[in-house]
Amino acid sequence: MTDETGAGAACRDGSDRAQARIALSNSLPGSRAMHPVQLVRGVRKSYDSGGGLIHALRGIDLELVEGEFVVLLGPSGSGKSTLLNLLGGLDRPSAGRIAFRGTDLESFDRRALADFRRRHVGFVFQSYNLIASLTVRENIDLVTERAEQPMAPAEALALVGLAERADRFPAQLSGGEQQRVAVARAIAKRPDVLLCDEPTGAVDCATGVRVLEAIERCNRECGTLTLLATHNTAIAAMADRVLTLVDGSIANAQRNAQRKAARELSW
Ligand SMILES: Nc1ncnc2c1ncn2[C@@H]1O[C@H](COP(=O)(O)OP(=O)(O)O)[C@@H](O)[C@H]1O
Ligand SMILES: [Mg+2]
Repeated sequence: MTDETGAGAACRDGSDRAQARIALSNSLPGSRAMHPVQLVRGVRKSYDSGGGLIHALRGIDLELVEGEFVVLLGPSGSGKSTLLNLLGGLDRPSAGRIAFRGTDLESFDRRALADFRRRHVGFVFQSYNLIASLTVRENIDLVTERAEQPMAPAEALALVGLAERADRFPAQLSGGEQQRVAVARAIAKRPDVLLCDEPTGAVDCATGVRVLEAIERCNRECGTLTLLATHNTAIAAMADRVLTLVDGSIANAQRNAQRKAARELSW
């Protein structure tokens, strides 16, 4: 278990994170005192595909704590994206509940849910989703202009090693660089939770490692709870905790004794 307890003073706003300091160390053996960010209880999600219900999640229970790095591992169709979307308030469960710092997301109307996403959640998707007509700096500004205490674009870009790319347009960057900009954009609002859905799915191994290094650095230096969904088993080694999803259920939950650095990974 690596020690991240001292990390991130510079990245935190310190206000709401100072609340709800409920030590959960008893439920997480051998770890430092943990602070819950999200609680998932009995969550199910079914989609009506026309040809019958598809059960994407079949009863998920989870406790996600401040600062941890969780890899959601599973084959295509196992429910990874569905779970990330529910955690991030992009969609709602069919049953069960998800709480964010003690508040049930179900109590939020559409507008409040959008506000929750805007203020508290950073998303990184497989497709980088940068706006082609805006520079790197403008892409970050767009997301942070309504955030409470955002980082300056330069600071966020420095975190992912791209400080000198601020004035470029996305098309003037490699795929891996564009994904690192997407990471910088997600982290710049200082989210409470960073949700990464197959962030290395569209890039080669060497490029993927650099993307993972950027995510790892944001997790360590900002202490941001990070969930990363992937089908790539090699990536599991960089997590504090690995949750294996099979057919909508957590088939295995395992804690890594030591986190492997992203730069040591290959696939
Ligand atoms: N919007 C949707 N409508 C219908 N079925 C969906 C929808 N989203 C996901 N599914 C189905 O739910 C299951 C889980 O999908 P998903 O969460 O995307 O898995 P993963 O991210 O692990 O590949 C799959 O069977 C998928 O086809
Ligand atoms: Mg997916």
